[in-house]
Amino acid sequence: MSKKLKIGLFGFGCVGQGLYHVLKNSTGFKADIVKIAVKDKAKLRTVEPSLITYNKWEILENPEIDVVVELIDDADEAFQIVSEALRRRKHVVTANKKMLAEHLEELYHLQYEYNVSLLYEAAACGSIPIIRSLEEYFDNEELKKVSGIFNGTTNYILTKTLTENLTYQEALCQAKDKGFAESNPVNDVEGFDPKFKAIIIALHAFGLIIKPSGVLNIGITTLQEIDIKYANEKGYKIKLTPHIHHITRDKVSVFVVPSFIKSQNHLFNVDNEFNGVIVEGKFSGEQFFQGKGAGSYPTGAAVLSDISALSHGYKYEFKKYTQNQILSFSNDVILEVYFRYNSPNDLQYLHFEEITEKYSSDSYYYVIGKIHLEHLIGYREYILTNNLFISLINERVEISNDEKLKKSFKKEFQIF
Ligand SMILES: NC(=O)c1ccc[n+]([C@@H]2O[C@H](COP(=O)([O-])OP(=O)(O)OC[C@H]3O[C@@H](n4cnc5c(N)ncnc54)[C@H](OP(=O)(O)O)[C@@H]3O)[C@@H](O)[C@H]2O)c1
Repeated sequence: MSKKLKIGLFGFGCVGQGLYHVLKNSTGFKADIVKIAVKDKAKLRTVEPSLITYNKWEILENPEIDVVVELIDDADEAFQIVSEALRRRKHVVTANKKMLAEHLEELYHLQYEYNVSLLYEAAACGSIPIIRSLEEYFDNEELKKVSGIFNGTTNYILTKTLTENLTYQEALCQAKDKGFAESNPVNDVEGFDPKFKAIIIALHAFGLIIKPSGVLNIGITTLQEIDIKYANEKGYKIKLTPHIHHITRDKVSVFVVPSFIKSQNHLFNVDNEFNGVIVEGKFSGEQFFQGKGAGSYPTGAAVLSDISALSHGYKYEFKKYTQNQILSFSNDVILEVYFRYNSPNDLQYLHFEEITEKYSSDSYYYVIGKIHLEHLIGYREYILTNNLFISLINERVEISNDEKLKKSFKKEFQIF
């Protein structure tokens, strides 16, 4: 594919305009945006009117267009556009993590069936080239874990509330003004956005297609002054962290929770809108990536990198997915957490495997203890509606007692 690509662009908001700017200013790579589909007829546009359309078929039915770039903020409509484009044998680049996480399986099959390429580097951690690194560099190596900070908005809010004493609302408004926060911040602050990214990454790191509904996400909406005070006193920073852990020979767990992070951790100094990704390989050890996870130009640059890769005929081979013989998704894991609650009754609902520290005062209580992930999933709604806060401590994740039993049993009887 060496000819100059003709692009049909959907969406001309934060990322769409970023891509337009980055492409215009690219010295190495050239492509033509021939049409831009948007929604709101009343909005003033900064490009010549002949480029704009409000009719998606003007792009999808245009035989001259070989690449559809989908950058809209509506996941359901995005899925219609992307699947139709693939069926019409157009290559697709998208940044829409919600749409991808919800439809990974269908999209995986569609791009094979129609022999076209679907690329989405910008959908997971903005400008950090994590998908292609997993696909091309770590394709041969068994990974132990991928974790990090996958959401710029919450990291910005946490940085400003922890270090500059801004209120949650003030920090969120700033994040919106700077273009980091999505139009609907619920996806960010409730941890859905990093969960969608973790699901995309789990496919390329471990070869698993996981349904979002099975994966726990607890965000930062119930964080209170007292939790910040506790973290500061202990020398922790609070970060919202997705975890994709290879926990036993055949199981991978995935979850998103706030975490207390110690200064020795790479993520400790990943602040503001920056994202960080830690990849731990069986032989290569720990690798750390840091970069801008959101924003107009960094995300636009990631989209342009995919378009450029397309011009060289690049296609994901989903190597870990085709190699995977034994791995499956599991929530059978124990987490060590700080749990802050508001009345002694709250503790009765949550079953802890072990409690190592307990504190109570007139106004609040906390425990440090070990809790099963399945159990936490069952009480997610209770935790959120009662304004309780839970935080993983320093990435302490263990295999469950059941798995420990199985392991010692296997050892004793030499099963393998
Ligand atoms: N913002 C970031 O930093 C960032 C980072 C990584 C990934 N992403 C992803 O990138 C995508 C775009 O995000 P954004 O921040 O650029 O959103 P945005 O600023 O809200 O812009 C959305 C654009 O989509 C257009 N649109 C919505 N529905 C449409 C439809 N049915 N047909 C055609 N156009 C439609 C809107 O049209 P109007 O202009 O007419 O309103 C607008 O131009 C999302 O999937 C987001 O998750 C964003």
